[in-house]
Amino acid sequence: MSDLYRIEGLRVDLPLPGDLLSALLPIRRPRLTILDQIDLAIAPGETFGLVGESGSGKTTLARTMLGLAAPAAGRLVFRGADLTGRAAWAGLRRGSAMMFQDPVGSLSPRMRVGALVTEPLIIAGRPIADRAAEAQRLLARVGLPPGLAGRYPHELSGGQARRVCVARALALDPALIIADEPTAGLDVSIQGEILNLMADLGRDQGVGFLVITHNLAVIRHSADRIGILYLGRLVETGPAAQVFARPAHPYTASLIASEPNPDPRRRRADLAIRGEIPSLLRRPAGCPFHTRCPIAVAKCRSIDPGPRAVAPGRMVRCHLAEDIPQPRNPAEEHSR
Ligand SMILES: Nc1ncnc2c1ncn2[C@@H]1O[C@H](COP(=O)(O)OP(=O)(O)O)[C@@H](O)[C@H]1O
Ligand code: SF4
Ligand SMILES: [Mg+2]
Repeated sequence: MSDLYRIEGLRVDLPLPGDLLSALLPIRRPRLTILDQIDLAIAPGETFGLVGESGSGKTTLARTMLGLAAPAAGRLVFRGADLTGRAAWAGLRRGSAMMFQDPVGSLSPRMRVGALVTEPLIIAGRPIADRAAEAQRLLARVGLPPGLAGRYPHELSGGQARRVCVARALALDPALIIADEPTAGLDVSIQGEILNLMADLGRDQGVGFLVITHNLAVIRHSADRIGILYLGRLVETGPAAQVFARPAHPYTASLIASEPNPDPRRRRADLAIRGEIPSLLRRPAGCPFHTRCPIAVAKCRSIDPGPRAVAPGRMVRCHLAEDIPQPRNPAEEHSR
């Protein structure tokens, strides 16, 4: 299947925040590499979960994919078209929708839900005669009762407001929806419900979703594939079920081990990450994770591990990663 969105060898440098004087002077401010060596592909209808701690570069990646930040190196390809010329970016804008970090704040407080969902239909050029029925259909698709159309955003629960945002994104009939921390701040169980809804909609309608979160646990059951970002590098990517069952990078393993688990026998103290995430200003030499890695060896301090395929569709950046044996019959794996 051809990719909906493909990223190859992406690097993004942003100017270091400077003082006012240096901002006014016509000198080039020093730049900091935020994202490096990013390879990623999202298939139609697939929900890809991008996970990383705060400051790891998640929002920068979303902004770059939408043309809001310029790559220093690498290729971005949307539906087979290289995103270089204006025509290609126009195609991306027609074919994608974005859900921002604070979706409730993005809803105009003076508009009722019905109007909020109709607005993107107008932008998309839907005929007047279809709009009311289409808005009702969208509300139903995101699991909201028709009676809610007359409410204002402040009269909605956090979960209902997120559903309105999903309906607004779907109204543009996009091939890809990029959702940056769309459920942050909600109860974990409600986050799971909304992300499941998004993944189901994606599968039913062939919409690709890039769901960005700092909380690995909330996408456990909704993402088809996941990518783990650490200090601007993807350290592991693969099918979600396989990565959760058998993480190959020590960082992924420690994130999974630190998920709340009521069973003390399943808490893994040996996998706990030490210390704070280093600043991108002082990205460690060698493997960027070596300052916190519980199993680091000498070469980790000087040699940066390249990407390595440990199983079909699974990439890991770690000197100690080993090939993962595959079940001979995939059906056996499912029945376990
Ligand atoms: N416009 C910008 N200019 C310079 N640095 C930025 C800019 N936006 C973000 N950064 C820096 O880039 C890094 C990654 O930020 P971001 O992509 O927002 O991470 P995340 O979304 O994972 O929290 C941070 O260190 C942040 O300070
Ligand atoms: S390369 Fe070394 S430091 Fe990096 S994750 Fe692997 S074992 Fe840890
Ligand atoms: Mg962010």
